Amino acid sequence: MELDRRGFIAALGGAAAVGAMSHEARADALEEVLLAQLNEAPSRPVVGAASAPEPGGESSFPTVAEIEAAITTRPYRRGVGNLFLDTRGENVDRLPAMPSSPTLLDFFELRFVRTRNHCFQSANKARERGADEEIVLACLLHDVVQEMMKSDHGYWGAQLFEPYVPERTGFAIRYHQALRFYADKEAGYEYPDLYRRIFGEDYVPAPHIQAAHDYARNHRWYDAPREVTVSDLYAFDREAVVSIDPFVDLIGRHFKQPKEGLGNDGSPVAHMWRTIANPNAPL
Ligand SMILES: [Fe+2]
Ligand SMILES: [Fe+2]
Repeated sequence: MELDRRGFIAALGGAAAVGAMSHEARADALEEVLLAQLNEAPSRPVVGAASAPEPGGESSFPTVAEIEAAITTRPYRRGVGNLFLDTRGENVDRLPAMPSSPTLLDFFELRFVRTRNHCFQSANKARERGADEEIVLACLLHDVVQEMMKSDHGYWGAQLFEPYVPERTGFAIRYHQALRFYADKEAGYEYPDLYRRIFGEDYVPAPHIQAAHDYARNHRWYDAPREVTVSDLYAFDREAVVSIDPFVDLIGRHFKQPKEGLGNDGSPVAHMWRTIANPNAPL
C-alpha cells in the first residue's frame, strides 16, 4: 500500500514531532495510518491521506467509527502484548533464555525490550522534576506489562507489581491509565494528540475509566499517578541515551525481589511473570 510521506508527517505534527518519536511510536503510527487507509471512505481524508489537512479545516484524527472499521483489517487484536506477535507481519524472534531465579533487572534486560526505553525516559523525567522515589519507581514500571497485555494495562501492571512495591507505587501504576484521558492543566497535563489518533477524536472513555479517574482525583495519593502521566508526555525522545543503571539502587531500596526468582515465589501473580518469561508455552 502506498503512503503519502508528506501527508503522514504533517498529520503527526510535522518533522520535528516525528523526529522526537521513538522507533516504536513511529512504527505504531505508521501501522495505524496504513490500516486507516485500508478503510478510507472516499469522501473523508484520513490520517496521512494524500493532502495534509487544512488548518482549521477537517480534523487530521480518525473517528471512533474509522478505528472500529479497521478491526477486521488485521489478523490480531490491538490489546495483545508485544511478546506475542510481530505487528509488521514478520516471524517472531527466539527469546533469550531466562536465568533460573530471574530478578526484575533480568526481566528488563531480556523481556521488557520494547517498553523499557520509554519507561527509563519517563523515570528520568520524573526524577528531574523532583518526584519522590515511590513515584520514580512507578514511572520506571508503568508500561512494561504491555509486553504481556495492552488492554487495561494500568490494572494488569499494578497487579503484576503490587506484591513487590510500595502500595503508593502500585496505586500510581493502576491509575495512570485512567488519568491519561483527563487533562489537568494545573499539574501540567494536557490531553495528548497521540490518544486522539489511537482512540479516535470523538472517543469517550469507558465508564470504569471515568469512575477510576473520579476516584483517583479525590484520593490523597492523586499526585502519584498524575506525575506518571506528566512524565509520560516527555518520554518519547529517540535520541535519549538511557539505561537502568541510575535506578538500580532505587530498585534495591523499594522492590522486594523474591529470592526464588520472579515467577517461582508462589505469589498470587507468579503465573504472570512465568507467562512473560515464557510466552511460547502452548498451554
Ligand atoms: Fe501507560
Ligand atoms: Fe507511558
